[in-house]
Amino acid sequence: MERLGFGVIGVGTWGELHARVYANTHGARLVAVCDADHVRAHQVAVACGGAKVYTDFFDIVSDPEIDAVSIVLPDFLHHEATIAAVRAGKHVLIEKPLATTEAEALDILREVEIAGVTLFVDFHNRWSPLFQPLKHSLERGEIGTPQQVYYRLSDTLYVPTQMLSWSHHSTVAWFLASHCLDTLLWLMEARRHHDTIERLYCVARSRVLRDQYGINTPDFYLTTIEWASGLVTHIENSWILPESGPSIFDLKCEFIGSQGAYSIDASHHGAVKKSTHKVEYPDLFVSPTIHHHPMGFGTESIRHFVQSLQQGVKPMVDGIDGLAVTRLILKMEESLRLRQPVDVENIYVL
Ligand SMILES: NC(=O)c1ccc[n+]([C@@H]2O[C@H](COP(=O)([O-])OP(=O)(O)OC[C@H]3O[C@@H](n4cnc5c(N)ncnc54)[C@H](O)[C@@H]3O)[C@@H](O)[C@H]2O)c1
Repeated sequence: MERLGFGVIGVGTWGELHARVYANTHGARLVAVCDADHVRAHQVAVACGGAKVYTDFFDIVSDPEIDAVSIVLPDFLHHEATIAAVRAGKHVLIEKPLATTEAEALDILREVEIAGVTLFVDFHNRWSPLFQPLKHSLERGEIGTPQQVYYRLSDTLYVPTQMLSWSHHSTVAWFLASHCLDTLLWLMEARRHHDTIERLYCVARSRVLRDQYGINTPDFYLTTIEWASGLVTHIENSWILPESGPSIFDLKCEFIGSQGAYSIDASHHGAVKKSTHKVEYPDLFVSPTIHHHPMGFGTESIRHFVQSLQQGVKPMVDGIDGLAVTRLILKMEESLRLRQPVDVENIYVL
């Protein structure tokens, strides 16, 4: 099998994982990495067994050895690098969120169409062993018709104050609600059933991060979503959980149906406990390393992109899925501004 050449633009926390996956996946080869921080790019290239290093994304997208790139830049910087890659004829994997404005999202979709390249948005929960059994249960009707859902995906203060240098340019909605929204849309088959979200109401507060840390971004978003079927979902995304928690994120999800329920409590799984100066539950699901190989559902979605390109088939997530989530987060912002529920329609319409 001919190996496809991959590049990664932005090799910070998550881009490094992309680079490691391409360097460790059958049928793929990591050709180059690109980061504005040359030292960081060089470190990642060496850690992956060698790759070319670029600091300007216009240069990496011109590399003829590269067939496809991952865009793993901060949330609000996805657009320009993606357009450059697409115009250079490269297939693109874009980290979530696709874009942070509707105009940018639509522009990406238009350019992808013109160039005839493949676009995949990395909503990796669709590969999660935590959500797959729920998906199967819903398909088989085991828990009946979904009635109410509580979904919490939050981070400790470490993420906006130390891990991300750009949290003040983004929000926990772009960073985490994007995952929740795509997961719900996928579980409920919203795209196939045409716009099943009818209305949402969002409340947020900006106090702790702004006043205690000087980071001007909301502390949390609480969003209630009404679906045409009668289902009500509540999602909770916070960036101010205490750092003493056993994991940097907290994931809980409870689906209550007319015949049963399904609940997930993954970050506080307790299956493996590490006790030093504090108690931690190591990551078993997202991207654990097994014998130096990156594993977990955070890597499965990237491998799915590789396989889709090799087989010449459409990947399981595309630009329209990304556009829908971008539109919903913009609706959350609209609801915040208006301080009232807002109607939602046509999230999938171009
Ligand atoms: N951290 C996570 O757990 C995680 C998980 C999934 C997805 N994501 C998504 O991945 C993306 C990146 O997040 P991250 O946590 O890796 O951020 P990060 O800050 O760790 O990495 C971003 C990298 O981009 C580089 N960069 C910034 N501007 C650049 C430019 N113009 N040209 C080249 N390089 C540039 C920075 O130097 C940095 O190394 C975001 O969209 C985020 O939502 C993050």
